[in-house]
Amino acid sequence: MPEVKKNLDKKTNSFVQGAKPSQIISLNKEFKKIDNIVLLTVGEPDFNTPEHIKKAAIADIQANDSHYGPSSGTPELLQSVADFLKNHYHLNYDPATEIVNTLGVTEGICDTMKTILNPGDELIVPEPTFPVYAAAASAFGGKIVPVSTEESGFILTAEKLKQVLLAHPQAKAIVLTTPGNPTGVAYNEKQIQALVNVLKNHDIFVISDEIYSELTYDRPHSSFAAALPGQTILFNGVSKSHAMTGYRLGIIAGPQSIISQIAVIHQLITTALPDVVMAAATEAFSAGENDAATMRVEYKKRRDYLIDAFTKLDISFAYPDGAFYFFFKIPDYLEQDGFKLARQIAEEAKVGLTPGVAFGQAGYLRLSYAASLDQIKIAVNRLSEFFSKQKQAQAKIYEKSTTK
Ligand SMILES: Cc1ncc(COP(=O)(O)O)c(C=O)c1O
Repeated sequence: MPEVKKNLDKKTNSFVQGAKPSQIISLNKEFKKIDNIVLLTVGEPDFNTPEHIKKAAIADIQANDSHYGPSSGTPELLQSVADFLKNHYHLNYDPATEIVNTLGVTEGICDTMKTILNPGDELIVPEPTFPVYAAAASAFGGKIVPVSTEESGFILTAEKLKQVLLAHPQAKAIVLTTPGNPTGVAYNEKQIQALVNVLKNHDIFVISDEIYSELTYDRPHSSFAAALPGQTILFNGVSKSHAMTGYRLGIIAGPQSIISQIAVIHQLITTALPDVVMAAATEAFSAGENDAATMRVEYKKRRDYLIDAFTKLDISFAYPDGAFYFFFKIPDYLEQDGFKLARQIAEEAKVGLTPGVAFGQAGYLRLSYAASLDQIKIAVNRLSEFFSKQKQAQAKIYEKSTTK
């Protein structure tokens, strides 16, 4: 194995030297080793990719579609994405110039940060949120301006936004995720409009990650891109809507003059996406109209079960409008260090959860309900037993201390 030449490893890009691998992925790896654990850590659908999409992928391989494809996507894929965005969300994007397909939204996030940020530029990040935005921006020299949303039900309010923009008038971009990860909270039309009324008066990019748009349970999805198209860089993809995380296909859509710059970075990094992935995604967008609907019914059952169960346990939580996450407050009788508690729950109760602090919000745990209802019920029973034991133990300690 090669031994690095003295100090050569200290000469890499200084922003990258400060970068750390995902805590969520490493915690999941650690919990996987625990026998009989119910893992509710990762944000990945437990459904298989629908048969018609798999068939399209196989047919593409059989047809020897194995050459470099067009960088931003095949014309068929681009058209199917444009149709999907139009039919589902009334968004109008020219497939030839205003859409780029990427290796998952994750690559899209990196391409976008690289394109819009100069070192030192500020990115406003309402928290808690998906940690990749801040990680990618930091790796390219961006400065994160975290904004807590806990006090307003995990929704950024117009008032708070105004305050942040007053303190950071040069901020280059803001990232908004709806429905959100880790909370499942989604912005409604009114909340979007209130933010748009502020944002439209500033020269600021709005990065809107709407990857969970197909998974909303009480009302249809509302899009920032629809409300502020001239400033918005929109992300979506097939990972969550069509249970295709392993295929790695994301979408970026926005005004032509911004997308053309992002497309250059995408081309530099990938040349083009795998042909088979593009063929599968074309099928998903053009013929997978009902795929998400089937999964949505199941996710909603699980969500409703959790709402009921945690209400009975008297534990407060963010109201989950969409996605497949349940974000609940750590009761005061439990260990308050999120990582310590998640490890304790994994070891003692055999349930894998992710601490909120991994998303920028201490005092909470995230439960991913991308698992069968049976598994979720087992997990809730184990958690409830664990909570009541801890509560009793805490009460005994309190009793002892007051009778001294
Ligand atoms: C908000 C959000 N955006 C993007 C992603 C990553 O999506 P992709 O699989 O398309 O890279 C995730 C994955 O969990 C997510 O939660």
